[in-house]
Amino acid sequence: MDVRVAVLASGTGSNLQALLDDPTVGPAIALVVSDRPKAVALERARAREVNAVALTPAGYESREAFDRGLLDVLEEAGIDVVMLAGYMLILGPVVVRAFPDRMLNIHPSLLPAFPGAHPVRDALAWGARVTGVTVHLVDEEVDHGPIVLQEAVAIEPGDDEDSLYRRIQEIEHRIYPRAARLLGEGRLKVEGRRVHVLGEEGR
Ligand code: GRF
Repeated sequence: MDVRVAVLASGTGSNLQALLDDPTVGPAIALVVSDRPKAVALERARAREVNAVALTPAGYESREAFDRGLLDVLEEAGIDVVMLAGYMLILGPVVVRAFPDRMLNIHPSLLPAFPGAHPVRDALAWGARVTGVTVHLVDEEVDHGPIVLQEAVAIEPGDDEDSLYRRIQEIEHRIYPRAARLLGEGRLKVEGRRVHVLGEEGR
């Protein structure tokens, strides 16, 4: 895969790990950025000798200045593709516009159902029978851009947030590397809200 990938993560970084472990995507990851200096995600990057940078809004005079600072870091590293993997900050337009159709996010629900910070809890509380995982391109609205991949997960009667999230994460770790490969290999064609996967019938 002939692109340089940055992964932005705030937390544990299990999705980052799945990306690092993928034989195609892993070697393309040139940079990991976190807004939390103690994020486990940064340790995972360092363990693979991937450049790991902590960048917090507190170090900047405004959110706009932070966004410009983040964009500088991405551009200096020659990044082509950005993958959000549990990145809890909302990126400003200056960053999003710099990577048109080249920035992905993963979200643990079937969007547009259950956007926001607690999608697993919200799906259970709603009494939904099915939830899942969405990988989508990032646009300027949160949890909103064109859908690249989705996979459903049945909610069982005995599920709690932990048991359901475990099954959701298994899917995340399988489909996020796949989405990265499709984007990195130039196999996604975006037409409005529709994303066609080249080489797959009927998409
Ligand atoms: C994932 O569930 C992802 O869908 C959401 O944030 C979570 C990050 O988990 N956007 P991890 O840090 O990759 O384990």
